[in-house]
Parts: sequence; structure tokens; C-alpha cells
Amino acid sequence: MYQLIAFDAYGTLFDVYSMGELAETLFPVNGQVFAASWRDRQIEYTRLVTMSDPTPTGSRYYRSFWDVTVLALRYVCKRMGLDLKPEHEKRLMDHYAQLVCFDDAHSVLTTLRAGGLKTCILSNGNQDMLTQVVEANGLAACFDQIISVETIRLFKTAPQAYDLLLTTFNVAKKDILFVSSNAWDALAAQWFGFDVFWVNRQNHPFEELGEPPLYEGKSLTDILSQITA
Ligand code: LAC
Repeated sequence: MYQLIAFDAYGTLFDVYSMGELAETLFPVNGQVFAASWRDRQIEYTRLVTMSDPTPTGSRYYRSFWDVTVLALRYVCKRMGLDLKPEHEKRLMDHYAQLVCFDDAHSVLTTLRAGGLKTCILSNGNQDMLTQVVEANGLAACFDQIISVETIRLFKTAPQAYDLLLTTFNVAKKDILFVSSNAWDALAAQWFGFDVFWVNRQNHPFEELGEPPLYEGKSLTDILSQITA
């Protein structure tokens, strides 16, 4: 029923919240609070950059997602009163570069592709970091394309970012399913006009700003039962 399944990367395929466990070993900190604050600041920076100069040639304030992630880490450590030594930063960012994918990612992608569907990533991550994390997890053969917003210098949720799927693939909007665990990303993709599968692993409420997506599950595996059934 779809031709292309497009996946968000961080949080959807790769477990960003595992950063909390490493943080706990480096700092006297509540790892979950630390990881969530880091993630929130990272996403806030992407919005600040994008909204402050949403021009067709990209934002003059654009920094790669890697840089945004480092800067957000430094901010959160300052805010939480944590002494981020260069070796801590290196360990945390090395871990980020090699984030582990969720258990079912490989099997779900393989099954979708075996059924004749195209698969890709559409992520705020820059191309290098995406390639690295995909290869570290042995997932390179699981995607037709790994699409980064780096080329347009605007982050999701700019519509130009979702439009990259249409310009990269010769596929109609209605034939694309967008998959994200991030409710903000799921909502924006839906506003753009895609059918959306929201991977709601933590049983969170959906954003109050809009209607829940067409599909919702607790894991990537739920995609198989809901859309290929
Ligand atoms: C991604 C992040 C934002 O685009 O989840 O991969």
C-alpha cells in the first residue's frame, strides 16, 4: 500500500536515551534527566537555527547536527553544574557516533525490503554521522538512501526538509509512510501531508497541537502488523 517507508534516525532507529547510562558513569547525575535535557536542548537549537533564517538557500546560522549536539551538551553541563572535561565530551560524543539501534530495527527493515518496499532515512543528522552510525550497526544494506537535511541547511520541521523525500525519490506523497518516535516530527510530517507511523515506545501522550497520526505502535515491529497486514 506504500512504496517508500522513510525513517527518522535518532530516537526512532538509534537509541539516544542510552546516553543517560554513560552519563551516569561519568558524572554524579540522574542519567535520564541528563539525556532528556541534552536531547531537548539539541532539538531547540535546531529550531532556533532554522526559524531565525528560513531562506531557500538555508539558514545562515546553520551548524551541522554534530556541532549542535556538542554545543547542546556543553550548555546542559553548564546548566546542571557538571564539569565537562574534554575527555568526558569525547567519550559522550564517541558514544553518540556509535549509538546502538533498537533490537528490532534490522529485522523490520529486512522484512519491509523483502516485501518490495523502498526504505530510507530522513534525518537532521549530517551525512557523516548518519553514515557512521548506520555502518556501526550493520544497517547499510537496509536503505536505498540516507537523506540528511545538511544539503538544505534547514532542520526538520521545516517543510523543505520533508520535501527532500519527494525530490530524492520519484514517489507520490500518498505512497510514502513516514516513521518517527518523536511526536513533534510525527506531527510535522503529517502536516506536510505524509501518512505517519508514530513509534510511541514510552507511552507518551501525543502533541496537543494536532490529531494523532494514522498509525501508532510501541515498537518498529508494530509497523509490520499494522501496515503490511
Ligand atoms: C533525526 C532526529 C532529530 O532527525 O531524531 O534523526
